[in-house]
Amino acid sequence: MTVPGLLSDLEVLRKDFPILSRTLANGQPLVYLDSANTSQKPQVVIDTMVDHLERHNANIARAMHQLGAESTAAFEHARDVVAGFIAAPSRDEVVFTKNASEALNLVANTLAWRGEHQVGEGDEVVITEMEHHSNIVPWQLLTQRTGATLRWFGLTDEGRLDLSDIDDLITERTKVVALTWVSNMLGTINPVAEIARRAHEVGALVVVDASQAVPQLPVDVTQCGADLLVFTGHKAVGPTGIGVLWGRREVLDALPPFLGGGEMIETVTMARSTYAGLPHKFEAGTPPIVEAVGLGAALDYLGHVGMEAIHAHEQAITGYALAGLETVPGLTVLGPRDAAERGGAISFELDGIHPHDVATVLDTRGVAVRAGHHCAKPAHARFGVQSSTRMSSYLYTTPGEIDALVDGLLYTRDYFEVG
Ligand SMILES: Cc1ncc(COP(=O)(O)O)c(C=O)c1O
Repeated sequence: MTVPGLLSDLEVLRKDFPILSRTLANGQPLVYLDSANTSQKPQVVIDTMVDHLERHNANIARAMHQLGAESTAAFEHARDVVAGFIAAPSRDEVVFTKNASEALNLVANTLAWRGEHQVGEGDEVVITEMEHHSNIVPWQLLTQRTGATLRWFGLTDEGRLDLSDIDDLITERTKVVALTWVSNMLGTINPVAEIARRAHEVGALVVVDASQAVPQLPVDVTQCGADLLVFTGHKAVGPTGIGVLWGRREVLDALPPFLGGGEMIETVTMARSTYAGLPHKFEAGTPPIVEAVGLGAALDYLGHVGMEAIHAHEQAITGYALAGLETVPGLTVLGPRDAAERGGAISFELDGIHPHDVATVLDTRGVAVRAGHHCAKPAHARFGVQSSTRMSSYLYTTPGEIDALVDGLLYTRDYFEVG
């Protein structure tokens, strides 16, 4: 099947991902449609991490020997790769965390402290109804602790942000606007730069959750209007255990440390401490070294394939999937129905069949999807459902895999004798 916009040499690219050629129970080939949950890893990421552990393993910064120097160089090289990948003006603005959730908690916690960006009583924090819980709960905790008010953009029936009340929501009281670039549940791509412009008019900080954007789109942190931006490595063909916080230097400089410990200090006395400069001020203790090195290899890999080409592939596969899902009777897609301005996650309901049952039957056919609330309960509530089934594609997804999903859904309907 030829679908315009797909990556050329897709079969060759798929060979970079060893897991994609494995078979499951009953000899079923794996059809992996759960990449918004976590992506598969190319051999180069696996090899880079193994090589680091086999040949260069040592703690960073503090080891006064060759291995320590090699390990530090590999870790800091990964920071350079991240900075280049997201077009950060400076490598010092790239902070390694353990995932996106930790990066968002870092920001929401440090904003409670006295200082230029302090959030306090009378202030407002604006989020959206389509956020992952990682970009809701930290702001609930912040506003509950400080007496600030949490407000949010609602959603249209089509699953886009309802911007009709933007001037009521973003006002002189707004201190922070925190939103996802690409929804992990609805697939919607949000007009981040437009919202950032309005937020900046009132002097608010813009925090962008780019966990689904960095894997799928070319990301330029300054062009998108973010003051702070986070993502998680494992959705971008990198390992688990590594995330990134990028922030404008002035903003990061103005925030206090989040966690205290080794390597984040300049000096320590029994009474008080002074802190290291960026980015180390925010990296207390031994960081996830091999994970950062793996993330560097992952982003190099994506950069080599090309983010424009990956985005085009995602849009082509998403368009093909939306058309295929439309042929399944009783299936309702939650979120935008056109592939333009849409990411690769498609959540849907199948009339009369619980999402867990859908996923379980698909699994018997080797098709891996996610079922549940996808850590986006408010977005599900907005559409009056508890949970949904979600397929999510990535750079290695083929039209044949989408066909296997659609066949599996038709089989599921027959199996449960609905319709
Ligand atoms: C949009 C979005 N934000 C944040 C997260 C949290 O990522 P992590 O669990 O790696 O912190 C996810 C993960 O599903 C996500 O999709």
